Amino acid sequence: MERIILPYSYEYIKVLELVSIIANSIYYFYFMWLFGSVFLAYYLEFIRRDDVSTFIADKVLSLPLKKLSLPIVLGVFSIIVVFSLDLVIFQDGKFLSLILINGLMSFVFILGLAFAWTYKYTYQLINLLQKSALEESSKHFIQFIQNNFKVHRISSKLALVFLTIGLFALASSFNYKIDLALFEVKSSLTSYLFNLIVIVRFLELVTLSLAISLLTTFFYYIIWQEKDFELSVNFQDRIKKFTINFGLITLLPLPLFLFLEIFLLPSRGLSYSIFLVVGVAVLLIFLIINKLNAYKKEELHSLGTYSFYVLVIIVILFATKDTFTVANSLKPSFIQISRNFVKYEEDLKSKLNISTININPEEIFNAKCVACHEFDKALVGPPYNLVLPKYENDSGKLAKFILNPVKVDPAYPPMPAQGLIPAEADALADYLLKTYKERVK
Ligand code: HEC
Repeated sequence: MERIILPYSYEYIKVLELVSIIANSIYYFYFMWLFGSVFLAYYLEFIRRDDVSTFIADKVLSLPLKKLSLPIVLGVFSIIVVFSLDLVIFQDGKFLSLILINGLMSFVFILGLAFAWTYKYTYQLINLLQKSALEESSKHFIQFIQNNFKVHRISSKLALVFLTIGLFALASSFNYKIDLALFEVKSSLTSYLFNLIVIVRFLELVTLSLAISLLTTFFYYIIWQEKDFELSVNFQDRIKKFTINFGLITLLPLPLFLFLEIFLLPSRGLSYSIFLVVGVAVLLIFLIINKLNAYKKEELHSLGTYSFYVLVIIVILFATKDTFTVANSLKPSFIQISRNFVKYEEDLKSKLNISTININPEEIFNAKCVACHEFDKALVGPPYNLVLPKYENDSGKLAKFILNPVKVDPAYPPMPAQGLIPAEADALADYLLKTYKERVK
């Protein structure tokens, strides 16, 4: 595997992160939409069961499966992209557990997708057959109708079960990935499946899924397709009431779940950007709630369109939050990967007899450090003579500080990061320690 996947430069990893956000957004959106739709259709068809409900059930269910291209492009394709990106991002021999966990999750989702398709297909057949059953009543035909209904019931249940397991896996695999990034995977599986954060995340995903499904139904049938609608005003009204009222109910607990999740998240996954992303998501959720309430009073199309687009942004923020959290815990490993890259590049160049890229630590020091540091005088920062002894035998630790300064001494302000690449920080650390030793002699 190591031979197939080369080390990457730091910039390249940043690009991968971006691609990962896009792919994850599509993946989240589609499978939450599908789960929400199957869940609602099942509830409407088999639990509420009145005429209007079964009618709406069919409408809700058919949306994410309207054309074969939808599940193929949004579902299967996004699974493949997310899967491959994970393999690239998590280098260093974590392949096996990743393939196992991602593979299982994809398999479950694809099974769910297949059963959801059968569920929808048999639903259409039922509607068709009911019309023709009035004219045709041979034994075979009745038998066929009954069989079709059996398949319909079974596939609805299986679709719901597999998609629920998939969503639960999505909620729990995330914690697992954070630990995987740090090589701290615990041996017991139950600690990943049943703890508070997994349950909070699962509830969060379920409510968001329902909101997605309800608002897409609302958007598609009431706002977008309103003109060429074959529905009576009465049915249209029922769809409107059902989707908006339920939609509001599912949106309300979301901010709470988000706060709880941040609160429970291991600190190594946190960063300011995550607070920012979650803060914006919560604001947008309140915005949608506000707009939907306004729509209830005054049915302006623009309000509906607006809510739908905001919802799409919220899903993107969700995916971004998760990608960032995993990326934060992967940072040490990213730095390692890009170090490998510089080494790999140098090896390659010396093999090909091209002069290697020249990093001159003295130049960097003069350009970027002298403004605040001298060896024997305190300027903005402490004199090197005082701070370097503690790094004497650990230039790696010093490089890490230079790359990513943390607060050390309360007597000084924090040091701003100097925007170096890992290879420069390495060279600089060696240079400082060497120069310091020569000076104390
Ligand atoms: C804008 C001013 C500024 C610049 C530029 C700057 N530093 Fe600093 N540096 C500081 C301050 C302030 C501290 C003290 C931070 C603290 O104690 O929290 C510090 C602390 C340090 C420390 C001591 C860390 C410790 O563990 O106590 C080292 C080493 C260091 N800087 C290296 C560098 C190097 C190398 C550069 C150039 C790439 C650099 N600094 C550029 C302001 C600066």
